[in-house]
Amino acid sequence: MTSIVYVLNGPNLNLLGQREPEVYGHETLADVETACRKAAEHLGLEIRFHQSNAEHQLVDWIQAARGEAAAIVINPAAFTHTSVAILDALNAFDGAVVEVHISNVHKREAFRHHSYVSGRADAVIAGCGTQGYLLALQRVATLIG
Ligand code: DQA
Repeated sequence: MTSIVYVLNGPNLNLLGQREPEVYGHETLADVETACRKAAEHLGLEIRFHQSNAEHQLVDWIQAARGEAAAIVINPAAFTHTSVAILDALNAFDGAVVEVHISNVHKREAFRHHSYVSGRADAVIAGCGTQGYLLALQRVATLIG
């Protein structure tokens, strides 16, 4: 049976490729989705790829993953640093969780150094560019074996 993995993206990631390309690169979120689908097929995973600027929508998708998905790969974007609601939702999810940041948040402003999500994540990938999503899917495949 194919394992389902939710790949969730937080606020402003819809602007990937246009937004601060010196920080986030030139690839669009559609490019990332295409690369994730290709990697997932190779790894025997089925992905549900979503982006929202709304915290409640991300919480709803994390809740939807309960009982359906084996893992969640999440770039919570700015909500990383603010959202107890996303942490609580992830704590109610039983599968593997991998947190992804395109940029190296630890090399940036101090307010980006703390992540609520890292307290739940099984792995954290930061500073690998959009390749971080593919590394996350590889890690998920290992974790859910
Ligand atoms: C980000 C880092 C966050 O600090 C920022 O708010 C983002 C993107 C990243 O992918 O590097 O929007 O999660």
